[in-house]
Amino acid sequence: MADDFKRMAAVAALDEMSSGMRIGLGTGSTAAHFVDLLGARVAEGFECICVPTSERTAEQARGLNIPLTDLDELEHLDVTVDGADEIDPDLNLIKGAGGALLREKIVAHATKRFVVIADQTKLVDELGSFALPIEVNIFGFGTTRRAIAEAGARFSPELALSQRMNGTGKPYLTDGGHMIIDASFGRISDARALSGVLLEIPGVVQHGLFLDMCAVAYVAGPEGVQKLQH
Ligand code: A5P
Repeated sequence: MADDFKRMAAVAALDEMSSGMRIGLGTGSTAAHFVDLLGARVAEGFECICVPTSERTAEQARGLNIPLTDLDELEHLDVTVDGADEIDPDLNLIKGAGGALLREKIVAHATKRFVVIADQTKLVDELGSFALPIEVNIFGFGTTRRAIAEAGARFSPELALSQRMNGTGKPYLTDGGHMIIDASFGRISDARALSGVLLEIPGVVQHGLFLDMCAVAYVAGPEGVQKLQH
């Protein structure tokens, strides 16, 4: 059922696309529906040029003959369509369960209109139930982890950190070759402050808080698709 809702949200976002657009392609199971639907439009002659946010999405898009480029070729994108792990009432997000947070944030930042698609389970009153992915450099991993624990404890006494592993029990590596620490805060009351504190730690490459970036969210559930915007 959740998968049907994800597809409904993707259909709503597809309606926003017009010919000739420069489109950022998100990562994850919801974004994959959008890529699939866009691929069907491209097969019918729809023209666009796209920047994928992960190797996984690039592979899917290539399989559908969606024209791809990168941000060296295109300075700005018209729109990016991506999923989210949590969406709060101000359309601030946690992203990165799929491990693509760094590229997702770079692409979203280079985009005029960042469109989020999700099923309704992603709506929360406050961010933080979902563990916040933090992408860290391999060099100095231990010291970076300790610094995150120390800084994060100011935001939640219940903070628990875990290093993300892959299916074979080895450290998970992102497309950029970094590791991920998933930080469970329980609740994040001041996401803006937490963002700043994390980015001051030298070994932190990026985190999954996407603040003041989302222009519109299409969120689908049994009642249909809601369009949430400021
Ligand atoms: C990928 O790194 C993530 O940011 C995803 O966009 C996010 O986890 C949502 O994924 P699903 O659409 O699979 O729930």
